[in-house]
Amino acid sequence: MQVFYNSKSIKAYLDTLIENKSIGFVPTMGALHHGHLSLVEQAKTENHLVVVSIFVNPTQFDKKEDLNKYPRTIDLDLKLLQTINCDMVFIPDVEEMYHQNILAEHFDFGGIEFEMEGKFRKGHFDGVGTIVKRFFEIIKPHKAYFGEKDFQQLQIVKKLVEINNIPVKIIGCEIFREEDGLAMSSRNIRLSEKQRKAAPFIYEILLEAKKKFGIISVDKIKQLVEEQFANNEYLKLEYFEIACEESLKPVNDCQEKRNYRAFIAVFANDVRLIDNIRLGN
Ligand code: PAF
Repeated sequence: MQVFYNSKSIKAYLDTLIENKSIGFVPTMGALHHGHLSLVEQAKTENHLVVVSIFVNPTQFDKKEDLNKYPRTIDLDLKLLQTINCDMVFIPDVEEMYHQNILAEHFDFGGIEFEMEGKFRKGHFDGVGTIVKRFFEIIKPHKAYFGEKDFQQLQIVKKLVEINNIPVKIIGCEIFREEDGLAMSSRNIRLSEKQRKAAPFIYEILLEAKKKFGIISVDKIKQLVEEQFANNEYLKLEYFEIACEESLKPVNDCQEKRNYRAFIAVFANDVRLIDNIRLGN
């Protein structure tokens, strides 16, 4: 496994590769878990070579405290990537990606950036768009892999590629869950024992919403979810929405030909967890 710390060296290496070798790319912020590894495994089956980036991107955090507390486990991450024979890892520092100017570009994603996560994390998607675009420019992957846990991010990246005419295929990969249903996330390691025990409730609520969707009104489902969280000692609901998969606009009723998802964001003290589930079949 080759490890690169600056864009010049990874670009030079990628330039030496024989043409026609397809490159799969898995961008991450590290603190890798089995969800990330499954993206790498999928990328390996669909490409000749796989590049994983590890970079905690400052411009996508709206709170400095959240950025500072984001888990950093680089040695472990490298060991894990080695066990699955990842080809290349790119670990730039902030200076390498932003030079002296740690600012996000501004994008018009057609409105999807203002829904849900966009309402609660101002500027978050400009930060994601900025860094993902820079990685695409350096690595020039044929395919790039993103987990559906961050479903809104996945849609944003698809839009980013479309509006900037970037020749990369964006692949969305299913959510990887712990045995008790909690969606795998780098943030899970920050949960206390009690919070970790309480956290599978998030997925239980999503399953409940899925069961009720189409039977009772969306408003009623939202009210039930809010009630269920009202007395939870460990989990505080930030939002629960049912939205159309394409527009990400929250809906109050459903039309047959659209695909819908339920989206949720919850705080366990200062640890923010998100999840979602496809509704219908
Ligand atoms: O999903 C993440 O880990 C990050 O948002 C990403 C895509 C690596 C960009 O920093």
